Amino acid sequence: MNNEKILILDFGSQYTQIIARKVREIGVYAEIHPFSIKKEKLLEINPKGIILSGGPNSVYGEQAPHPFDDIFNLGIPVLGICYGLQLIAYLQNGIVDKSAHREYGRADLIIDKENELLSGLNSMQVWMSHGDSLKSLPAGFEVIAHTNNSPICAIQNSLKKIYGVQFHPEVHHSIDGKTILSNFVRNICGCTETWSASSFIDESIRKIREQVGDGEVICALSGGVDSTVLAVLLHKAIGDKLHCMHIDTGLMRMNESEKLMDLFKQNFNMSIELINGSDKFLGRLSGVTDPEQKRKIIGKSFIDLFDVGAKRFNNAKWLAQGTLYPDVIESVSVKGPSVVIKSHHNVGGLPEKMGLKLIEPFRELFKDEVRAVGRELGVPDWFVKRHPFPGPGLAIRILGEITPERIDVVQKADAIYIEEIRNAGLYDDIWQAFAVLLPIQSVGVMGDERTYENTCVLRAVTSVDGMTADWFPMPYDVLSRMSNRIINEVRGINRVVYDITSKPPGTIEWE
Ligand code: XMP
Repeated sequence: MNNEKILILDFGSQYTQIIARKVREIGVYAEIHPFSIKKEKLLEINPKGIILSGGPNSVYGEQAPHPFDDIFNLGIPVLGICYGLQLIAYLQNGIVDKSAHREYGRADLIIDKENELLSGLNSMQVWMSHGDSLKSLPAGFEVIAHTNNSPICAIQNSLKKIYGVQFHPEVHHSIDGKTILSNFVRNICGCTETWSASSFIDESIRKIREQVGDGEVICALSGGVDSTVLAVLLHKAIGDKLHCMHIDTGLMRMNESEKLMDLFKQNFNMSIELINGSDKFLGRLSGVTDPEQKRKIIGKSFIDLFDVGAKRFNNAKWLAQGTLYPDVIESVSVKGPSVVIKSHHNVGGLPEKMGLKLIEPFRELFKDEVRAVGRELGVPDWFVKRHPFPGPGLAIRILGEITPERIDVVQKADAIYIEEIRNAGLYDDIWQAFAVLLPIQSVGVMGDERTYENTCVLRAVTSVDGMTADWFPMPYDVLSRMSNRIINEVRGINRVVYDITSKPPGTIEWE
């Protein structure tokens, strides 16, 4: 098997995933494993290099995570970052100083010695985030760079190809950090650039065919980017042995299901089973106002409808899911070897119930990588760039009771809002934008008439992965146009407000 890959061991740093992304941007495949990986497993993966991530612990701590004993004697190059550097020193009898100055933020790195890791670089700005620092070197190591506060900031044992840096080359505040990672991955580990969207597609198609054999696969198509790209990839791999179903919950954005059907018909010559579930969903949601109850009802209704739909394909042995990397691995895998998998609301519980095996080709990918795969497969750009949309749909954007009238109001407001965002050229700067309908009425005046109507909230956030988010600074003139149009064009709304809550403390959705 191709071993052009880098293994990243996670010691709990908030930046571990960024290391993986940066290595892949260099064109080399990287995967993250918990620090507690067994030696046999690591040898089976057979990486060309190992990166030890940072982490919040002190190497002296009782709970300090350590890798298996002879990790430095495998003949595989190692790069330790921050806590990773301290581990290299501590585990090989160097001394880590707990009383050193804490250092957070920018620092100037001064290179002391020509070396392969920092090759091609001059002194530069780096990003520090550490408490402990190195006091004395383990045998066989030498200092290759320092900063004012860290006399030992980068080290090497060039014979054993073991390197360590106190700073974080993976974050963008470390100018030229990517060159350091590239020097390690390409020059020191000798990896060639074999990772790209198209190589991923070829490899996935091969794997899917091998995995599925003669079996058939069912795929629940939500209309989001992940499940859409997944369906196109699977279709390319196994053609008619793929059966896609799209459940229209009646809680979709305006004309969403129609658009999705058109996309597949026009671009991919694939037939998708459209299941109209709006009566079932809206019937069961009638009178329900509690957010958790709404979610539970929707999850269960999805399963019921999907179950009925899927029974017709009784040769199907597989269920495809668009699970992504951030769903699979938690950066805190340092707390234990178990990985946490987000249960997919729409097909949760189904695989066990129906005896289906899971197929998840995107388990190793980040959202932007799925987008690149989509583009490579010919999914139109406008679709690939679409904002995420939650499975429970508008049900969690209509606070209070869900009725057909209220769905209509929020769909119209949302369509105008998104249209104006697109007109202003801001759509791609925003992670997610949508309208929310509140169960609150307020007094207004339109023409000479008093109104007593609903409040619409506009929400727009920037984010990298949806885990944290900032509210988007929407320009005033754009807000003004949005507000005017929504109040003029959507009956039932007489007040528009803009949400300026970040996550945390808020969540992106309102329910
Ligand atoms: P929150 O509201 O938790 O949302 O900040 C984070 C991201 O997840 C999306 N979201 C969901 N997606 N099923 C989904 O498929 C759900 O039940 C669900 N709830 C929230 C949300 O839109 C945002 O992108």
